[in-house]
Amino acid sequence: MKKPLLSLMLLLCSLATQAITTPNAHGGGFLWHKGRYYWYGEHKSNHTSAALVGITCYSSANLKDWRYEGIALPVAEQPGSDIERGCIMERPKVIYNAATRKFVMWFHLELKGRGYSAARAAVAVANKPTGPFTFLRSGRVNAGRWPALLDTARAMALRPESYKTWWTPEWHRAITQGLFVRRDLAEGQMSRDMTLYVDDDGTAYHIYSSEDNLTLHIAELTADYTSHTGRYWRMAPGGQNEAPTLFKKDGTYWMITSGCTGWAPNAARMFSAPSLAGPWTAHENPCRGPEAETTFGAQGTYALRIQGTQDFVFVADVWQPKHPSTAYYLWIPITFEDGKPTLRRENIREMRRELSFE
Ligand code: DGJ
Repeated sequence: MKKPLLSLMLLLCSLATQAITTPNAHGGGFLWHKGRYYWYGEHKSNHTSAALVGITCYSSANLKDWRYEGIALPVAEQPGSDIERGCIMERPKVIYNAATRKFVMWFHLELKGRGYSAARAAVAVANKPTGPFTFLRSGRVNAGRWPALLDTARAMALRPESYKTWWTPEWHRAITQGLFVRRDLAEGQMSRDMTLYVDDDGTAYHIYSSEDNLTLHIAELTADYTSHTGRYWRMAPGGQNEAPTLFKKDGTYWMITSGCTGWAPNAARMFSAPSLAGPWTAHENPCRGPEAETTFGAQGTYALRIQGTQDFVFVADVWQPKHPSTAYYLWIPITFEDGKPTLRRENIREMRRELSFE
């Protein structure tokens, strides 16, 4: 085992003992900035997964001792606001834009009282990593824009009214050919589970479950990271991937996702590509050991790079839908075996919140 990985294992061992300061920051994302890690996530209360508080922020110099930094983006009190208390705010991720010196947060937003039907991406900005973040807007993504590499003439010829029954082979073929991209072209593409990725050249990408959670989109963000450029690619069309996590190692992009089974865990999926535009190759489930077929009871949220190394930790949520605030986290070092990312049961470190019911 390489030395950095060994120290990562030791760090995660001590992390397991830090129950009291365990963050309430679910579906989280991490940012390294000026010597500290920042952890942003969904504040969960005891009886509902709807947002009653907002997006929390914690910081740490060592990934072990976490300091509560407050509510980075609170829910709004004004009735009718996109982020009105009782909406759904999920999977926040924050990146830093060196040119504008702004911290840019994107998250999945569902409007209050409308279940998961809005399927919007939302963006907020701040001058400091801890916020306060100012909410800018929310909406569907890339209205009027076709994805790269899609046969648009063929997609245009697809008639949504001809495919009223889902899951038939014909429907599946039409989905692959862009049936739902065409359906949502004018309004903009649906955007639910998501992550952000900043490439080595500083270009940022928004990766989200689209097309009724059937297909992932990888969409380029503008230079200030607060809008979409209109350039995007589809990934694994019709494959029903959620919970995307993305990292790059030795020039290869790796994506670990989940299937779509609500709050219930399922088997992780893994893909690799030489470029974000693809082509993406599907690999076997990266999990090994007991409960590998349910990602050890968890669902991924972020591939966290340990600063100064090429080592990554797969951070995952163990959802507790009956009492959402008691959801906890698995931190799993990503080992490479036969050149492929692997998540081993015996390397898991659990980070549990106390059973608080606030
Ligand atoms: C699975 C998603 O990954 C979660 O973020 C959340 O949206 C749940 N589905 C809701 O059922």
